[in-house]
Amino acid sequence: MMTYEDNLTESRRQAIQADIDTRKSTAERNRLGQFATPNVLAVDIARYVASVLGQTNASIRFADPSIGSGSFFSAALAVFGSKRIKSAVGIELDSAFADAACNLWADAGLEVVRGDFTKVVANSSRPPSPNVILANPPYVRHHHMNREDKERLQDLTFKMTGVEVNGLAGLYVYFLMLATAWLEDDGIAAWLIPSEFMDVNYGTALKGFLTDRVTLIRAHRFDPDDVQFGDALVSSVVLVFRKSRPAASHAVEFTYGGTLAEPHARDLVPRERLRESRKWTVYPSHAKNDRHTLGDGHGPRLGDCFHVQRGIATGCNKFFVLDRAAAKSHGLPAEYLRPILPSPRHLKTTIIGADADGYPLIDRQLCMIDCDLPEPMLKAMYPALWKYLQTAQSLGIMDGYLIGKRSPWYKQEQREPPLFLCTYMGRGSNDKQPFRFILNRSNAIATNLYLMLYPKNGLAAMLRRHPDRTESVHALLGQVTGHELRGEGRVYGGGLNKIEPSELARISTATFVELWPEIRSDAQPQGKLFG
Ligand SMILES: C[S@@+](CC[C@H](N)C(=O)[O-])C[C@H]1O[C@@H](n2cnc3c(N)ncnc32)[C@H](O)[C@@H]1O
Repeated sequence: MMTYEDNLTESRRQAIQADIDTRKSTAERNRLGQFATPNVLAVDIARYVASVLGQTNASIRFADPSIGSGSFFSAALAVFGSKRIKSAVGIELDSAFADAACNLWADAGLEVVRGDFTKVVANSSRPPSPNVILANPPYVRHHHMNREDKERLQDLTFKMTGVEVNGLAGLYVYFLMLATAWLEDDGIAAWLIPSEFMDVNYGTALKGFLTDRVTLIRAHRFDPDDVQFGDALVSSVVLVFRKSRPAASHAVEFTYGGTLAEPHARDLVPRERLRESRKWTVYPSHAKNDRHTLGDGHGPRLGDCFHVQRGIATGCNKFFVLDRAAAKSHGLPAEYLRPILPSPRHLKTTIIGADADGYPLIDRQLCMIDCDLPEPMLKAMYPALWKYLQTAQSLGIMDGYLIGKRSPWYKQEQREPPLFLCTYMGRGSNDKQPFRFILNRSNAIATNLYLMLYPKNGLAAMLRRHPDRTESVHALLGQVTGHELRGEGRVYGGGLNKIEPSELARISTATFVELWPEIRSDAQPQGKLFG
């Protein structure tokens, strides 16, 4: 077990870790995904792995592919004891951490390999295969990885595992697969990684790997309101698996909330069911899980009744969106200004009326510049607007991606004012809706902080016949439960939820069809109509 010296070393490690962290900027830490595992959590994980290994006293050959200052090695010493650890290796790219890990743990038997794990593991002279891996890999998002690196990692992962990883996957996906290729057969691995892969399309390869290539034993998702890493905005999951082909009848233990040792909810999910499941965060299916869905995947969906679209991206709201009064004082022509809603933070109501010009009846009316006249004409006909647009140069917004590809650059995406909107992100637990549904009777459109909902099919026909039912539709949208919305959307650390159009479109509209059976025929999925 951990000796008095090891304990002292762990205290020194925490001080050194804190010191290195404060010397780095958040941007630098994000670039290398440097958010250390709190030692209590590392110990919990090591204890769970010990329970999986069982009563044997078989020796441990430990590895951490991104060792940092060695939180996991310290935990392994505490749980397995130094005698049982026959070898230990940690790889680290950042020399400050590599030096720290070496100074702290070399005497306890840790070999530190300096370099990029994804290169070390590809090298024929890599360290011998470990039989236990404990890892918290760098959380580097795909847009911080350059193209060559991504292609190299995709090729290498395919070569070493046969899996094709989607280009939108973060670095941790490659780490997990490459390290598993390195792990000895029947070895055990525990990974602390972001939980987003469980729900999104680019996580498919990893989910397939976890259901078909290894025996996933446990998946514990932390409650996102209980952020594990004060400063890293991610919600995390611990995965523990054995490198062996899973039995057909295998079931995975999914737990949620609390700690690994004392989760708030648990469920055994047969591997076969998992293979068919688009979203994994709905497990365990338990009221305590913030993401359990009520829908069974069948029946009418919101996407059958509404065309759902994200609001528009202007390229620079600060420039294109102005107070209506300010636009007037600049002398900007009304025909090239469109009413637009303020951000959800500043919108206090969920039913928006309109004034005689179609502007929302709210305290602060905003408008967006949207003009399709070519520059020479605009300059000749509307000198005030021309003058305002010239200020874009000094603001440095002309190089932006969106603005660069528009012609003319001040013409916006064309959208009709939506009758309903839903806010794109928000918070809320239990029954509280994380997103707000808004009824819009004005001519305002909205930015991409909202989703726009346009009634279609049977619902549109019904509203044409019975416009008086508009408020009831709004009321029904307001009754979609918080659980269901969170179940379809995605969640970030700190409990921030977001929902994309395709996710909102999957919400059940069974209650709509119950109330107004006439919308039913159109609300059936197409397959059923033709089937
Ligand atoms: C999330 S931290 C975890 C550190 C440690 N395992 C722990 O649990 O506290 C990830 C570590 O990976 C290191 N790192 C980033 N990219 C790496 C790479 N390509 N190869 C090896 N280490 C890397 C970072 O410097 C950082 O120390």
